[in-house]
Amino acid sequence: MKFINPYFIAVTTLLAVSCTSQKETSSLKDVYKDDFYIGTALSADQIEEKDAKEDSLICKEFNAITAENIMKSMFIHPQKDKYDFALADKFVAFGEKNKMFIHGHTLIWHSQLAPWMEKIKDSTEMKAFMKDHITTIVTKYKGRINSWDVVNEALNEDGTLRKSVFLNTLGERYLVDAYKLAAAADPKVDLYYNDYNLEDTAKREGVIRLVKKIKAAGGKIDGIGSQAHWKLNSPSIEEIEKSILAYSALGVKVAFTELDITVLPNPWDLKGADVNQNFENNAKMNPYPKSLPDSVQNKLAQRYAAIFKLFLKHKDKISRVTFWGVHDGQSWLNDWPIKGRTNYPLLFDAKLQPKKAYNSVMEIKAVKE
Ligand code: XIL
Repeated sequence: MKFINPYFIAVTTLLAVSCTSQKETSSLKDVYKDDFYIGTALSADQIEEKDAKEDSLICKEFNAITAENIMKSMFIHPQKDKYDFALADKFVAFGEKNKMFIHGHTLIWHSQLAPWMEKIKDSTEMKAFMKDHITTIVTKYKGRINSWDVVNEALNEDGTLRKSVFLNTLGERYLVDAYKLAAAADPKVDLYYNDYNLEDTAKREGVIRLVKKIKAAGGKIDGIGSQAHWKLNSPSIEEIEKSILAYSALGVKVAFTELDITVLPNPWDLKGADVNQNFENNAKMNPYPKSLPDSVQNKLAQRYAAIFKLFLKHKDKISRVTFWGVHDGQSWLNDWPIKGRTNYPLLFDAKLQPKKAYNSVMEIKAVKE
């Protein structure tokens, strides 16, 4: 008989039950289980399960996952004839193992494009690229990925279409084409349009026009994802509510897909989340390098409470609320729009401890809706 190391059995059993073995305290996903999915973005290291503590926190608190980077075109399709699915396969396997809702991010986006894609110069080449890229990726995970961001950030702040290699080569038909190709590859998967600043009037009107156009041209679109990279004071709860109502009136689901709340100053009054904008760091711009003062910690908790109260009010329209990262230490907002700052935008601190903001989001559910 082949000798099986008992230690190996113990370790693999432990790994296999990592999500179910932690019932001792309640968690975000349990408390909100009847309302909407509670998701998180996963870094490459988290997908590879490099830190057991982080992975057990992910399992305990969240029931939906999005890959923070590894499904973007530069990683998944680095060369014209080469796809790299190694990490995407692990990401999907992680979600399946832990019975999570799995969201795909993102098929068509002007940022984090593979260099070869930027050089596509005419409509014939672009049509061939879109067909190959969308069909290959969506088909590969057909029936396993639950929803896709088909197009990410196609709009300018005034609601017009953003200039990109897609718009330049194909004109606005690229949008309808993208949704048709995705639906053909997996007719059952939910297809989203995802963007930031979707609570601003002009951009909101732009999204509404875009969804109507896609539907009128026979495309299938099931949801709108508001990235929700927000600040302590904006957008207002009223504007967020107007957007929820306006989007759901289109007959699509509403998701908050990349929620975080910056607490750091922004003298340039930078709006939105254009990943290509970067500024220099200095002490004034990085006021809390060691810890967040109680006063700001409390403001963050109040802001999260107000937001989740609104989400609960409209839970019938909201499919998913996903945070852009598990804990403050991994947040992209430590490096954007200024590199090397210390930001505190999430519910868990860099030591994986729940913050006041976490308690306030949990307590909202204790109050009768
Ligand atoms: C960010 C990631 O968090 C960073 O690690 C990366 O360097 C840049 O992209 N809108 C999106 C996300 O749709 O994909 C972006 O994620 C944040 C803004």
